[in-house]
Amino acid sequence: MQILTDNIKNTLFNSFPSDHSEIPIESFPQQIFQKEWLVNGELKSWHGSFTDVFSPIQFRNTNNELEPYLLGSLPNTGLPEADLAINSAVAAYDHGRGLWPTMAVQDRIQCVQQFTKELTSQRESIVNLLMWEIGKSRADSEKEFDRTIEYIRTTIEELIHMENANSRFDVVDGTIAQIRRSSLGVVLCIGPYNYPLNETFCLLIPALVMGNVAIFKPPRFGKLLYQPMLQAFCKAFPPGVINILYGQASIVLPHLVQSGQIHVLALIGSSKVADQLKKAHPKSNRLRAVLGLDAKNSAIILPDANLGNAIKECITGALSFNGQRCTAIKMIMVHDSIAQEFVKQFSQAVNALKVGMPWIKDVTITPLPNIEKVLAMHAYLSDAMAHGAVVMNPGGGESQGSLFYPAVLYPVTQEMKIFREEQFGPIVPIMPYHDIEEAMEYIITSDHGQQASIFGESPEMVSTLIDTLVNQVSRVNINSQCQRGPDVFPFTGRKDSAEGTLSVHDALRAFSIRTMVAAKKTESNEKLLNAIVKGQKSTFLNTNFML
Ligand code: G3H
Repeated sequence: MQILTDNIKNTLFNSFPSDHSEIPIESFPQQIFQKEWLVNGELKSWHGSFTDVFSPIQFRNTNNELEPYLLGSLPNTGLPEADLAINSAVAAYDHGRGLWPTMAVQDRIQCVQQFTKELTSQRESIVNLLMWEIGKSRADSEKEFDRTIEYIRTTIEELIHMENANSRFDVVDGTIAQIRRSSLGVVLCIGPYNYPLNETFCLLIPALVMGNVAIFKPPRFGKLLYQPMLQAFCKAFPPGVINILYGQASIVLPHLVQSGQIHVLALIGSSKVADQLKKAHPKSNRLRAVLGLDAKNSAIILPDANLGNAIKECITGALSFNGQRCTAIKMIMVHDSIAQEFVKQFSQAVNALKVGMPWIKDVTITPLPNIEKVLAMHAYLSDAMAHGAVVMNPGGGESQGSLFYPAVLYPVTQEMKIFREEQFGPIVPIMPYHDIEEAMEYIITSDHGQQASIFGESPEMVSTLIDTLVNQVSRVNINSQCQRGPDVFPFTGRKDSAEGTLSVHDALRAFSIRTMVAAKKTESNEKLLNAIVKGQKSTFLNTNFML
């Protein structure tokens, strides 16, 4: 066991490059020292202090130590810049009279398409920065980029469909009406570090295309990757429609919300932060929240589960991108009759995962974003072990620098922190149950309610669980891992896991409000409405058809 553990430590250490010659040329780091920030359609030179950005990928030095790698730096913008961003967004929206909110939908779509074209031309840089800023594998970084472009494409398609369906008048009880969706105002948009591009754009693009303006704060890790698209934002959108802030989130974000000028809080992140921000708004009823928050999704392994499939799905479910997905399986509950066998096979499968740098083919376990994250994982392990859990896979929980070898913890009980807390990292807690009620009780008493997975073959048992779980979580996966996609499906959660629903269709609704123009059906009103429509006088009131 000790030899195996030492081998794993060596493997972890030697996975880091000692110099650039060990890195494939297309994955060479791209250093960016950003000296501007985007406000009011302009890249403004920054003369204040800068924040260094270190990569999770470290380098081995000649003393056999791991050294941090400086990837670049960013303007450390603060409260005066937050005020400038607010003023710029408020002026661009101009109470709904601005160029952007009154622009015809097809023109807004053209702006988004122009931006997407420019964004696509930056694919290589952005993929590279995803790898170097958050440690995501090349394959997953490429997937994140391509999925984002596809999300934008389907969002536009859906908007055209929605607009065409609303391009008509209804007459009910002597009232003529046209009903469409219109914008809400200034959106404060905050994405998470695990999907810094995709999850942010899943908020930003529907918000913009519906006529809102945005202030956007990139996540804690994954900020530099926005630099290659700054010019594209400037070129594609009118001034003030998109403004990007950096600096300390805990200072800048409450300040923005306290201004009372934010109409929508769009955040994928922690429920604690969402709660604080919502409470910071001086007129809380004026703030709409679109939130994707914490989750602690469970997998329930029934006695008759196909073990091979359950293990395969739970491995990807729990450990893709080192378990740093809000949808990850963060607790496995397995029937005690098969628990020993499940844990044995699962641990073997964990140790078969490839560990290494993001450019290694088929790699699963890659560096965590910073050393604090590694320490947090160790703290979960120590606490669980002090309460009787054992790390079941050889080498599990070993770390070198930012690389943490995934750990399978068993048996996990309620005294342990990891029983309830969202670990958001490469530790897989497994809890045996005897009576299915114990598994149900765990889910019912959880603060979270995003998804669950059931593994089993009996139609009676599976259907009984489905019918209970659909009232506890928002997606029940059968013999499959938990996940957000396909993105046209609703993505939401109960309890502290979400507010509002995101999907290609639902996001357009979340960032807009139903609005109608109505008139008594009189001859003069008909004449007036016809004149407006035939003369193409209004961007809202029309019967245009978009292709
Ligand atoms: O981190 C949360 C993401 O929305 C999860 O998306 O299930 O496609 O990885 P995913």
